[in-house]
Amino acid sequence: MNIKENNITVAEYNILYEKVGWGTREESEVAEALKNTIYSVSIYDASNIIGFGRIIGDKTIFLYIQDVMVDPKYQNRGVGTLIMRNLLKKINEYQSKYPDIRVYLGASKGKEGFYERFGFIKRSVANLGEGMILEGYEE
Ligand SMILES: CC(C)(COP(=O)(O)OP(=O)(O)OC[C@H]1O[C@@H](n2cnc3c(N)ncnc32)[C@H](O)[C@@H]1OP(=O)(O)O)[C@@H](O)C(=O)NCCC(=O)NCCS
Repeated sequence: MNIKENNITVAEYNILYEKVGWGTREESEVAEALKNTIYSVSIYDASNIIGFGRIIGDKTIFLYIQDVMVDPKYQNRGVGTLIMRNLLKKINEYQSKYPDIRVYLGASKGKEGFYERFGFIKRSVANLGEGMILEGYEE
């Protein structure tokens, strides 16, 4: 397995996006989204993309982890952990500069336990309101 930072192609992103069951996105949309991404990590088996995750945000007050995805054939083999460790390393860099920076993510249903392993807590546990999403979104 090898790791690349800020290096995923639009095609690779769509390959994984489809493999985890999210469909595919318009190429120009993906290109723009990746361009506006703060940091991304991609994991390869030989030259094949098998995992990905990225950070978006304003770099000072809010960061969001998005699009953590592992090829189903490679799940439960530590790839997701590798992705999260790299994302959290980058987040630590921002935290050391901006200690009050808030780090969010929206877990897919049933994936909350995966993120709890890395220190994320449900908003309800922190006595915060629910996360919300604009109507029209379909999983
Ligand atoms: C969620 C996902 C990224 C996890 O990746 P992965 O490579 O399978 O994770 P790892 O192998 O590193 O798992 C690490 C640990 O978390 C556990 N884990 C994995 N999914 C979990 C879940 N949904 N709930 C609780 N624990 C989970 C594993 O059992 C493993 O435990 P272990 O270390 O005791 O063996 C992967 O399942 C995935 O891509 N799913 C489809 C896309 C998706 O839903 N992404 C999340 C978007 S919010």
